[in-house]
Amino acid sequence: MPVVYVENVNAYEGIEITLRGWVYNKRSSGKLQFILLRDGTGIIQCVAFKGNFSPEQFETLDKVTQESSIEITGKARKDARSPGGYELDVAGFRILQQTENYPITPKEHGTAFLMENRHLWLRSSRQHAILKIRHEVMKACRDYFDDQGFTLVDTPIFTPNACEGTTTLFETEYFDQKAYLTQSGQLYNEATAAAFGKVYCFGPTFRAEKSKTRRHLMEFWMVEPEVAYASLEDTMQLAEGLICFILDRVLTRRRAQLEVLERDISVLERISPPFPRLSYDEAVKRMQAAGSEIQWGGDFGGGDETLISEQFTSPVMVHRYPSEVKAFYMQPDPERPEVALCVDVLAPEGYGEIIGGGQRIHDYDLLMKRLKEHGLSIEPFQWYLDLRKFGTAPHAGFGMGIERVIAWICKLTHLREAIAFPRTLYRIYP
Ligand code: 4AD
Ligand code: MG
Repeated sequence: MPVVYVENVNAYEGIEITLRGWVYNKRSSGKLQFILLRDGTGIIQCVAFKGNFSPEQFETLDKVTQESSIEITGKARKDARSPGGYELDVAGFRILQQTENYPITPKEHGTAFLMENRHLWLRSSRQHAILKIRHEVMKACRDYFDDQGFTLVDTPIFTPNACEGTTTLFETEYFDQKAYLTQSGQLYNEATAAAFGKVYCFGPTFRAEKSKTRRHLMEFWMVEPEVAYASLEDTMQLAEGLICFILDRVLTRRRAQLEVLERDISVLERISPPFPRLSYDEAVKRMQAAGSEIQWGGDFGGGDETLISEQFTSPVMVHRYPSEVKAFYMQPDPERPEVALCVDVLAPEGYGEIIGGGQRIHDYDLLMKRLKEHGLSIEPFQWYLDLRKFGTAPHAGFGMGIERVIAWICKLTHLREAIAFPRTLYRIYP
């Protein structure tokens, strides 16, 4: 007898099959029992008729509890009213484990409780939908770059130096040396871009963000392309294209999950290139007009980004921030050296920054000067300086935070739901 996944049931209409999964929900009405079986690929209603079982068997099935593991045998039948379009007439079943006291019930639970039970919470339809979308987003990122001839080159997680400032470094022992968990693969991407031309890395990155916000995780995933000979404008186009590609993929392949989340899909459908481009100067003026205290020269806080991103229905590209507030490696604008050739992409609906990037300093002396100004010791950056000694050329790239993109697409209130096991300021369990 074929063992089938719920998502494939349509190919087995009228044939006796076995499904293996967990009891998602259940109700009975005297002669009939209705079991919602989930197996990770879908949910199907299984109907057991009293007349087909011994009284003991029927009683056992009646007592089966939520999240018990169970195998059910029967024939699938088309049923327009059921969610997957099919129902299963139960001929037999085997309970692998009768679950007692499953902590997450259909009633409302508080976030702290759900986070404590994150390992179980993942089974709920909402969390399931979010993580299916996450998978689609990650696959879309890879396809987008692969289709354009990029090479995926993985960058290390243990690193000897800081990329994004020394205040958010996670320090660890590396035998008799100090090491830091990577904040970004960018510096290594710059080396591999000189070897492969167009590269990207895609992996977990780590930041000891000491403030508790809905936009920060300690461990998050980033996809980072880097292109030799690219300019700021090139990298902005690449970023715009990536976002459109991801949206298109999710809208075509994960519509059902967006519906589970009750996402307003039309808002996402309306987004199309070109995205508005706003200089930092213009952004500051807009923020001031909207009541922000920000002055030229300051970095945007979460509230400032929200102000801007609420004013647009599509992502906005804010470019040319003051060099002062940005990382040491940013290339100054030759026309206006006080600003950097950089871009932040802010997602709409108040979500704020999802991408940061720009052109990198390619001149040896200027890079050396900046490292010193930022109080960074030169020795661990020797290899990075080498890239400016041996065939240096302009180059640019960016990093996109995967959880930020998912939070926006799924309209989540907090990043913690965008990853299976979030690492947050006060929680490392489970
Ligand atoms: O703007 P950031 O700091 O840029 C970089 O790390 C560059 N080195 C990337 C590059 O050019 N290759 O971070 C990039 C993105 C942000 O736009 C945001 O989406 C995400 O990473 N991000 C975080 N996501 C979740 N939690 C955090 N603590 C994050 N910090 C940054
Ligand atoms: Mg940034």
